[in-house]
Amino acid sequence: MSSVVIVGTQWGDEGKGKIVDSLSQDADVIVRFQGGHNAGHTLVIDGQTIKLSLLPSGIVRRNKLTVIGNGVVLDPQALITEIEYLSKLNISVTPENLKIAENVTLILPFHKELDIARENQAGKSKIGTTGRGIGPAYEDKVARRSIKLIDIEDISNIDEKITRILDHHNILRKAFGLSELNSDIIVDYLKDIKSQIIPFMDNTWRLLKEMRLRNKKVLFEGAQGLLLDVDFGTYPYVTSSNTLPAQAAIGSGVGPKYLDSIIGITKAYTTRVGSGPFPTELFDDAGDKLGNIGNEFGTVTGRERRCGWFDGVLVRQTAQISGIDMIALTKLDVLDTFEKIMICVGYEIDGRKIDYLPLSEYMQNKIKPIYEEHDGWLSDTSGVNDINDLPDKAIQYIKKIEEFVEIPIKIISTSPKREDIIFLENIF
Ligand code: IMP
Repeated sequence: MSSVVIVGTQWGDEGKGKIVDSLSQDADVIVRFQGGHNAGHTLVIDGQTIKLSLLPSGIVRRNKLTVIGNGVVLDPQALITEIEYLSKLNISVTPENLKIAENVTLILPFHKELDIARENQAGKSKIGTTGRGIGPAYEDKVARRSIKLIDIEDISNIDEKITRILDHHNILRKAFGLSELNSDIIVDYLKDIKSQIIPFMDNTWRLLKEMRLRNKKVLFEGAQGLLLDVDFGTYPYVTSSNTLPAQAAIGSGVGPKYLDSIIGITKAYTTRVGSGPFPTELFDDAGDKLGNIGNEFGTVTGRERRCGWFDGVLVRQTAQISGIDMIALTKLDVLDTFEKIMICVGYEIDGRKIDYLPLSEYMQNKIKPIYEEHDGWLSDTSGVNDINDLPDKAIQYIKKIEEFVEIPIKIISTSPKREDIIFLENIF
C-alpha cells in the first residue's frame, strides 16, 4: 500500500494516536485532513506521554514529513503553543518537517468566544463541544467569509476580508452580550502570529502529488470518530467536519482513487465525550470500572468520558458507510478483569427489533440494546505482542466482533505503549 487512511469508527478517543504513531514508522508523510485542535492524540514513547491536538502524530519521529491539509481548521495560537510544548521535549517542528496548506481555514479568537457563548446559552441542550471554536470556524468557511492562511501573507490586503467576517460576528456578539470587535484588534493579532506560521505554508496538494509520483508512503490521520461525522453521525451531537475517510481526499487535495486502504480504529468497548445518544452507555459499577481502568478522561478537555459496552451495530454501520478495509482493535486489556463482557448485537425500539442506528434523534433516544454475553478471560493481556499469547476467550471475543461487523481485525493494541501491538498483516 502506498496510501493508508486511518479513522476512528466510534465517537473518537479510540486510540488513533498510538496506531498512527506505530504506522508512521514505515510512512514517509503523515497528513491531517479535518478537525482542528479539538482532537487529542496520546502517544506513549519510552515511558513519556506526549499529547498532540493539532499536529500530525508523525511529527514525533525524525525524518518524516507532516502536512496539515486544507480540510483542517487551524488555530494559529494553538499551533504555536503545541510547537513550543514539543520543543521542550526536544522534538523540533520546522518548515522542513511541517507543511501547512495555503488554503487552510484559520480559527480566530472570536470563534472560540462564540463557541463558548452558544454552549452557555444552550443550557441542557448544549452539544458539549470542546469550546475551541471548531464549529464557528467551519461555519464561516462554508459561508465564504473565512480568513485563510494565505490571506495573512500580505496583511496590507486583508481589510476587506476582516470587515466582512466582523460584520457578521459583531451582529452575533451583540446578541450574545459580547463586546463588539474592530478590525484593528484582529489585524494586530494576525500581524503578531504571522511570522511564526507563514514559514510553514506550502502548496500542499502539489506536494502530495509529487510524493505520490515518487512512490512515497502517505498516512492520512483522521481525527474524532465516524459517529461524530456531520452527515452520518449522531447529529446534532457531532463535530462540524466530515470525519469519514472520503474526507481525506477533499481535505488534502488528493483524488479519492489514490487512497489505497482504510483502517478503522475501534475500541474494544465504547466511550463518548459530550452530549448525545449512546445506546450501550453504562450507569453502574461496570461503567465506572471501564472508565477507571481505561483512564477515560478527555485528552483535550480533561472531561470524564461516558463508558459502555461494545456496540457492534454502530461499528458495522460506520464501517459500511465509510468503506473500512480492516480494523485495529484497541484497549483489549481494559477488559481483562471483567467476568462477563457484553456485545450489543441489535436494537429494540418500541418492541420492534432493528439492526441499524436510525438517524432520527427521537428514535435514537428510545433504543434498548440487545446484548450477547461473553465470558471474560480474567488474565492479563497488557503488553502481549503475539496473537498466540492471547487467552482463548479473548480470541473468541475478537472473532465475535470481526464476524459481527463483517470486517477483519488486523491490528490489536494491548497497552498505550508504542511497542505493545500485534500486527496480523503488513500495512505498508
Ligand atoms: P467540537 O468538535 O469541539 O465542536 O465538539 C463537538 C462534539 O465532538 C463534542 O461532543 C465533543 O466532545 C466531540 N469531540 C470533538 N473532538 C473530539 C475528539 O477528538 N474526541 C472525542 N470527541 C470529540
